Amino acid sequence: MKIILVAGARPNFVKIAPLIWELKKRQKILKSGKIEYLFVHTGQHYDDEMSKIFFQDLNLAFPDINLGVGSASHAVQTSKIMINFEKVCNKEQPDIVIVVGDVNSTIACTLVATKLGIKTAHIEAGLRSFDRSMPEEINRIITDSISDFLFITCEDANKNLLKEGIDKEKIYFVGNIMIDTLLKFKKRAEKKNTFKKFGLNKKNYALLTLHRSSNVDKKASLEKILRAIKIISYKIPLIFPTHPRTKKFIKDHNLSSIINNLNSIILIKPLGYLEFLNLMINAKFVLTDSGGIQEETTALKIPCLTLRKNTERPITIKIGTNMLVGNDESKILINTEKILKNNYKNNCKIPKYWDGNTSKRIISIILNNI
Ligand code: UD1
Repeated sequence: MKIILVAGARPNFVKIAPLIWELKKRQKILKSGKIEYLFVHTGQHYDDEMSKIFFQDLNLAFPDINLGVGSASHAVQTSKIMINFEKVCNKEQPDIVIVVGDVNSTIACTLVATKLGIKTAHIEAGLRSFDRSMPEEINRIITDSISDFLFITCEDANKNLLKEGIDKEKIYFVGNIMIDTLLKFKKRAEKKNTFKKFGLNKKNYALLTLHRSSNVDKKASLEKILRAIKIISYKIPLIFPTHPRTKKFIKDHNLSSIINNLNSIILIKPLGYLEFLNLMINAKFVLTDSGGIQEETTALKIPCLTLRKNTERPITIKIGTNMLVGNDESKILINTEKILKNNYKNNCKIPKYWDGNTSKRIISIILNNI
């Protein structure tokens, strides 16, 4: 059996890693030769701090193949991935291609493999924000509509897929693969001194991440968020590892003066997995527009205010620590106050199968069904 695993953007590496660890274990049990896998990096993310550092942190060998596509418009980036990935599939003739998440690499590689008659598996299928202005939502819908194996993290995803007419035989509830990585590395991340290195105190700072196109590309929304952040920083110090896309737009829109030169806002480069996890574990709360961080904070029981109007991960709101605040200053500030007074959501729970064993379930299903 030959498997191709695809990753392209930062959050993908965290989701692919547990599959590689599990495949290595199975190779030993079944004696090598029975399962072969190739790890393909599309090159969608290419800066060391968006890509290379994750291989070091997650104990992963560098990818077998790097398509090296880099940044471009959606059409150019997606089509470059497709052209290069088709050559890989033709040469390698895999039995199955496994993709994760909702980035351009996910849809590009699924489309290529499906048209070549190669089976495909989508990990993190069925999530829907119902907001088609998000490029990720389009990637999710198309990937799910043509994949053969749909691995889901929660019951909502099952409902979404059935509503879209997906055959229930293709859907497998396996849990959340990001949490496999989180649980494996939590202790190691706790031992780091990242928050101290930045002069912060345990549970006495907020962690911010921001990169969603709807928040950062347009001046008005980015400015609104940065102004709210500035007010929060009067109450609690805030650390902000800045995504390259966000850094670019803060500069292009001339907004640096809102957050620069404030002692209580610490602007840093994007961090690797372990250092970021250390900041997340020790934070009083997290402000983010990321998808994965909404889930990681729920798994860690850390309060999370999501700077979006919608989420494809409603379970993190229903039973977890998450709340949607959009870019609405008053909602952001009211909930910050609640968190600071320890008056925020109590009784949060961790969703079913977010238990560290998702990759085992996925690999067993694939090996038994191909
Ligand atoms: C992508 C995903 C998004 C995911 C995010 C995680 C899509 C449509 N979006 O968004 O779902 O949450 O990754 O980070 O696939 N850049 C660099 N260096 C890099 C990568 C990007 O400088 O290593 C800059 C470039 O200016 C680039 C911009 O960031 O044009 C956007 O990068 P891209 O990968 O297209 O999208 P993200 O915003 O990172």
